[in-house]
Amino acid sequence: MKGVLLHGGFGTRLRPLTHTGPKQLIKVAGKPVSQWCLEDLRDAGIKKVAVILGELAPERVIETYGDGSALGIEITYVYQGYPYGLAHAVYITKDFVRDEPFVVYLGDNILVEGIGSYVKRFEESDADAMILLTEVEDPTKFGVAQFDERGRLVKLVEKPRVPPSNYALVGVYMFRPPTIFRAIEKLKPSWRGELEITDAIQKLIDWGYRVDYAIVRGWWKDTGTPDDILEANRLLLDHKIRGAVIRGSVSNGARVEGRVVVDEGAKLLEGCIVRGPAYIGKNTVIGPRTYVGPYTSIGDNCTLEDVEIENSVIMDNVLIEGGIRIFDSIIGSSTIIRRGSARPQGLRMILGENTKVEL
Ligand code: TTP
Repeated sequence: MKGVLLHGGFGTRLRPLTHTGPKQLIKVAGKPVSQWCLEDLRDAGIKKVAVILGELAPERVIETYGDGSALGIEITYVYQGYPYGLAHAVYITKDFVRDEPFVVYLGDNILVEGIGSYVKRFEESDADAMILLTEVEDPTKFGVAQFDERGRLVKLVEKPRVPPSNYALVGVYMFRPPTIFRAIEKLKPSWRGELEITDAIQKLIDWGYRVDYAIVRGWWKDTGTPDDILEANRLLLDHKIRGAVIRGSVSNGARVEGRVVVDEGAKLLEGCIVRGPAYIGKNTVIGPRTYVGPYTSIGDNCTLEDVEIENSVIMDNVLIEGGIRIFDSIIGSSTIIRRGSARPQGLRMILGENTKVEL
């Protein structure tokens, strides 16, 4: 099996964070979202992965993952540029995939239980394609499956006004070439001008090919909006941090409570409290009079002093100081937040990269 990771798109719903880079590189619980995907592919036994690049700072993706060897995989970059749709992104991997079955993974999706068991099931089957489904409360925002009375998949409907079921498509698909490429060749752009992967799978069903489905165990999260990012961060911190892991240093007089990762080179100075689940990135300094509350991930090389922060995601190289309370926020990298004479009660912010806020 080969893998295809979709790392393009516009990420409009995550602006201003996506003005300067792809959303898939936003770090949650210490790793970029797409690294969780690449590690999941690797753990499912997939070593060769094509990473689709979009228009938004594609060089950053290459800088982050290189040839993939640090993660134990072999990456081939395929440039898509403008996001013409998921099916378009899949189509341009035709030369990479050749005649091997492959998994398509949307680089902003996280499945806590991983894809290993589904990949195995697909490999052992004769199916032409396999989709993953999960039960959701409001299916109108998703691609939704329709089944016949015998439970067979008969139709996929994009964002239906009247949903035929509560089973939504998760962003992981498995295909056997060449049928999927033939189906994509026949597609016309949808009302939103994209080549839709749901239309391609519908063609496979209509042509009588076998499309299997599996219901995902454990939670799944599509990290398309700021609230999704905060939720994914909470879920990952809860599931992946099992206990306190101190690789950096904790001074006497600094308090660490519960499940906290203090990564290499990080320093917790006297007079700070870090209450887990939380992640403190490499070489980050948590200074005096600082409280880092549950469900907070702080990136590498940050400095926080005299700050109270909770349920937030802070990216790399951020400086926050001076009697500030922050909650439910996402702060882009290289941002500076300082307090002047005002004394704000508490701040909820979504800040892009290189922002400077003086309060
Ligand atoms: P979406 O989240 O549907 O699209 P988007 O990234 O453009 O976001 P927004 O709606 O906020 O503007 O895309 C799902 C995933 O697929 C995401 O990881 C981006 C990726 N993608 C591509 O790689 N190429 C494409 O042509 C499209 C449409 C998406």
